[in-house]
Amino acid sequence: MIMPATITTAPAKTILFGEHAVVYGQPAIAVPVNERQAKVKIFPSIGSQSNDIQFIAPQVAFKQDYSSMDIHHPLRIALDEVKKFLDISDYPACKVHLSSTIPISSGLGSSAAIAVALVKALFNFVGYQASNKIISDLAYKVEVEFHGTPSGIDNTVIAFNQPILYQKNRDFEFISPSGEFTIIIADTGIKGNTKEAVSGVRERWQQNTKQYEEYFVKIGEIVYQAKTALEIGDSNHLGNLMNANQEFLRKIGVSHPSLEKLIEIALQNGGLGAKLCGAGQGGNVIVLSDGKHFESISASLINNGALQTIIMSLAKETHEE
Ligand code: PMV
Repeated sequence: MIMPATITTAPAKTILFGEHAVVYGQPAIAVPVNERQAKVKIFPSIGSQSNDIQFIAPQVAFKQDYSSMDIHHPLRIALDEVKKFLDISDYPACKVHLSSTIPISSGLGSSAAIAVALVKALFNFVGYQASNKIISDLAYKVEVEFHGTPSGIDNTVIAFNQPILYQKNRDFEFISPSGEFTIIIADTGIKGNTKEAVSGVRERWQQNTKQYEEYFVKIGEIVYQAKTALEIGDSNHLGNLMNANQEFLRKIGVSHPSLEKLIEIALQNGGLGAKLCGAGQGGNVIVLSDGKHFESISASLINNGALQTIIMSLAKETHEE
C-alpha cells in the first residue's frame, strides 16, 4: 500500500486572563493565535522496515531516529502514546519533519503546538480520525515531559483552536466573542522561564498564603467578568479588566521592567488595556486595541524595544467537538 504524505498544523496560543491563578484552581481564558503555527509533515519511507522512523527539525538542526531516542524524549512520547492508544506495536516507516513559526520560551505555547500537530499527524498518517479531545489528552502527556506539571490550558486551547474558559479538573467552556477584538502581542525579547516563574509564585504563596489566595480569587472574578465582556462585545470594559489583571500579576511578582515598559507605551498610544501573558518575567505583553489604532500601537511598541509584534483579531467562530 502506498501512503500519501500527511501535513498538519497547530496554532500558537496566548492567555488573555488568569495565568498563575489557574494553577491554584481559578479559571483562565486562552485564545489560539493562528498567525503563528507549528507544522508537521510525515513522509512514508517506502521499502524501509516498520518502526524505522526519523525525526527532522531543520530550524534547530535536529535529526534523530526514533530507536535511538531516550524513552522520555517528548517526540518519542508522542509516538508511543499514539501507538498505545491504537494498541499497535509497529508504526509504518516514515520521516517526520517538524517546523514552527512560533517563538520559543515566550509564552505562546510553542511546545504544545508541536505536540498537538505531531499527535494529529501521527493519527492521520495511519488513517485514524482522532477527536480533538483525544489529540489534546495525548498532547498533554507530551507537555508533561516538556514542562513537568502544566495546567493543561495550552494543549486544550491549541487542540480545539477556539477561545476557551479553562479551569483545572472541570470541563472547559468555549467562549464566543461578539464583534471583533483586535489584539497586539509584543515580544520583550527576554526569555521567560515558566517553571521558575511558577515555582517563585509557589514560594511566595507558601510564605503568605492568605494574601495570595485573596489575589487568586480576585483574578478569578476578573476572568468571569472578562468572559462576559467578550461575549457582549464590550472592548472598553475588557481593556480595564486587562489592566486590573496586570495589577495582580505585579503583586504576585511575575512582571518585569521590560514588560512594564511596553505596557506603558501601549497605554500611552491608545491601547484600551494591556498586560503580560503567560508565565511572565519576560516573554510577551498583550494589548487590546480598537479597530483603528492597532498599527500605530504596534509601531510604537517596536520603536520602544519590542522584538516583534503579532496583530490578531478575535472574532466569532463555530465550534467543532
Ligand atoms: O508561559 P506559558 O504560556 O507557558 O504560560 C504559563 C501559564 C501558567 O498559568 C503560569 C502556568 C500553567 O501551567 O498554566
